[in-house]
Amino acid sequence: MYSESPYRKLSWVEVDAAALRHNVGEFRRLIGSNRKLLAVVKSNAYGHGLCETARSALAAAADPSSAGLRRADWLGVFDLDEAARLRDAGIDVPVLIMGDVSDKGLPEAIERGFRLTVPSCDMARRVAAAATRTGRRAVTHIKIETGTNRQGMASVDAIEAGRVLRASGAVEVEGAYTHFANIEDTTDHSYAFGQLGTFNEAIGALERAGIRPSLRHASCSAATILFPETYFEMVRMGIGMYGLWPSRETRVSAAQEGRTPIDLRPALTWKTRVIQVKDVAAGSFVGYGCTFRATRKMKIAVLPVGYANGYDRGFSNTAYVLIRGRRAAVTGRVCMNLIMVDVTDIPDAAAGDEVVLLGRQGDDAITADQLAAMIGTINYEIVARIDPAAPRVLIG
Ligand SMILES: Cc1ncc(COP(=O)(O)O)c(C=O)c1O
Repeated sequence: MYSESPYRKLSWVEVDAAALRHNVGEFRRLIGSNRKLLAVVKSNAYGHGLCETARSALAAAADPSSAGLRRADWLGVFDLDEAARLRDAGIDVPVLIMGDVSDKGLPEAIERGFRLTVPSCDMARRVAAAATRTGRRAVTHIKIETGTNRQGMASVDAIEAGRVLRASGAVEVEGAYTHFANIEDTTDHSYAFGQLGTFNEAIGALERAGIRPSLRHASCSAATILFPETYFEMVRMGIGMYGLWPSRETRVSAAQEGRTPIDLRPALTWKTRVIQVKDVAAGSFVGYGCTFRATRKMKIAVLPVGYANGYDRGFSNTAYVLIRGRRAAVTGRVCMNLIMVDVTDIPDAAAGDEVVLLGRQGDDAITADQLAAMIGTINYEIVARIDPAAPRVLIG
């Protein structure tokens, strides 16, 4: 019998709140209770749902067995829009905006108390001017360039930016931070340690200039798993909170360095339903470009998800989904909104069957790492690109 999708959207994401809490607890165990734990929830919480994930990460303290040790304290987002959505949802912990904020957005960001990243003297001037205009104190984190050559500035500019902010009388320099370029992609961590050294030198130079940020932070998930010397007063935890390892190299390094074992539990399951099952005669083609030809009489299930929903076109003739606990291979090209999968050997497969695109069903699972390997990318991209419009449903 056809069972309807439970949502208006044809695919949805179930997020295991207990897994999120567990993962937060694992990172908390590593860093202890005296440091701040910032949960990075940018990009719709790496596809897991911005507010749903934020609440889970922050509510972890409700677990009575953990004496309040298992929660995140801060949230990190990329832009003002994400920060505003958190506040609009009643989430009132400190939020660090790690990307840029336009001049148009600065007054709102300052009034709502969001922490602003200052990666350049230009931004320092813009923030100082906006804070003076709004009459509200802006709170900032200076971003130090240490070798990633993304956002950030060398210590001489950081000192200048700090002076501009201080001279305005309207801005607090609460934090200083940096981000590692080469900590996930290698088991040789000399580059990361070079960056750490540069960061420490820059902090020293800022202090000598009378600028003393109380929150220094550098550590992402991989650094937190591997190197306590990167913790400072706060760590920024992204991929690990979602139960995914930053990379295979991080796992190898953790073992090589004899680090405290950490148990990460993937939290996300991406689901859809079969919308049609049909017979395909031997010799017939399936999908655009006729890239798949049936070698026997086959049964094909049609699923309402495609590359416009974040199911990468690279999965054409490559990936598989789970139906009735069995693997069904993607046959032919991934379309914009549809895929076709081979259910010839799943004889009971029927319209309405629940399908797992990513995650566990029965005894089998499709991991973000597996999907990433199929198309030469990283697990981060697989989860972050899942259709933001698909409902995120917290389970547990
Ligand atoms: C500035 C910054 N900090 C922290 C993170 C979190 O990194 P990870 O997901 O590897 O923990 C990111 C992620 O891209 C980032 O851009």
